[in-house]
Amino acid sequence: MPFSTEKSKRIYERTLGVLIEASSSSSRGPANFGKYPIFMERARGARIYDVDGNEYIDWMMAFGALPLGHAHPEIVEAITEAATTGAHFATATPVELEVAEMLQRIVPNAERVRFANTGTEAMMAAIRLARGVTGRPKLLKFEGHYHGWHDDLLVSSNVLPPSALGLRSDPIKIPDSSGLNRTALEDTIVVTWNDLPALQRAIENHPGQIAAIITEGIMANMGVIPPAEGYLRGLQELAKSNGILFILDETVTGFRIAPGGCQEFYKLSPDLVTFGKALGCGLPVAALVGRADVMDALKWGGVLHYGTHNGSRIGMHAARANLRVLTRDNNASFRHTWRIAERLCVGYRELFKKKGRAVVVQNVGPMFQLMFTDQPTIRDYRDFCQFVDRAAFQKFVLSLFPFGVYASPSAALHSIVTLAHTDQDVDLTLEASGLALDSNN
Ligand SMILES: Cc1ncc(COP(=O)(O)O)c(C=O)c1O
Repeated sequence: MPFSTEKSKRIYERTLGVLIEASSSSSRGPANFGKYPIFMERARGARIYDVDGNEYIDWMMAFGALPLGHAHPEIVEAITEAATTGAHFATATPVELEVAEMLQRIVPNAERVRFANTGTEAMMAAIRLARGVTGRPKLLKFEGHYHGWHDDLLVSSNVLPPSALGLRSDPIKIPDSSGLNRTALEDTIVVTWNDLPALQRAIENHPGQIAAIITEGIMANMGVIPPAEGYLRGLQELAKSNGILFILDETVTGFRIAPGGCQEFYKLSPDLVTFGKALGCGLPVAALVGRADVMDALKWGGVLHYGTHNGSRIGMHAARANLRVLTRDNNASFRHTWRIAERLCVGYRELFKKKGRAVVVQNVGPMFQLMFTDQPTIRDYRDFCQFVDRAAFQKFVLSLFPFGVYASPSAALHSIVTLAHTDQDVDLTLEASGLALDSNN
């Protein structure tokens, strides 16, 4: 049967006049998916099925929220049990303590733990805490880093023409959205990433004013860009020596790069760390963890952090089962995802070479992205804006769908290897990619 997404198209037409861009987040709609998105109906393991009955190997995995793949039996069992005995109480619960204790064991700096629902919320709490504890107003973030859709850090994280960015030594602050609080970005300093002298200058320009430096451990919202050797430790030292808190955003990298995230992998000791995505394995669970003396300022009368759904019982059941599976057999799941990713990335490099296509495959362990570029490597946001052909990437990904492979068509995002992906999925994906390249690229 020829590949058809007719039902998706009809559902999309029904959404017009009801939903904005067909879903509840602009990144899921036509801006990324062309004429209309594919409507998915069910999933299991590494496979996802659309409303027309097409089957795909899923490398998007809910933007990284499914480290075990879809419908893992232990997650299904855990959330079923919670659903039948009370999904949420908004009281203190023993399971919340259990998950917090697990985080203390797994994450090096987790002296204290506070749960939230999304990466955005955890980061909002982290920056309020940093401002409260230090008594300083300013936040320092990096070009091309995304930390959620709240006002304070929503700047210079969209892909833009290089001519709009200003000088590396003094980036122009470009808000990512209309409707921000008029003064929201006044206290936000934007610096180029992977550049310690630039960071040092920015700190010197605002003595005693900066509450926190906020960074992703690996850039995950401009494809995949690793930190330069020693960069994050240099950043940590600069923060420490200037009385600035170091907030590591592990929303993407947490429970993915290593059990303790980038913190463990790059041997860091951040003051605060935020988690989201992978923690709940499909349920909205996020966490803020960190130094006891900083985190304790969240006590009543200090820095306010509320949330009806924080630490939901069903989410905590999912997180507990998830962390058990991820760390089982001496963290075997991490060895699996790194090995599968390595095979896939090597295979992709060979394939693009054979087909004469200029594509750089960048990955750190199970996070990878195909950068359509004639450059040997993409090192930062400015490289990405200038040298990555996003339209070519989008065309390639959309042409994979008829061959049964699904990924995000946004070049600025990335793909994810999970515990559910197999060697066979790698072989099928490479074969499909070859066919897709031959078909219309
Ligand atoms: C690095 C990073 N931080 C924070 C967030 C926000 O997380 P959420 O979408 O759960 O609010 C994201 C989302 O993609 C992210 O990539």
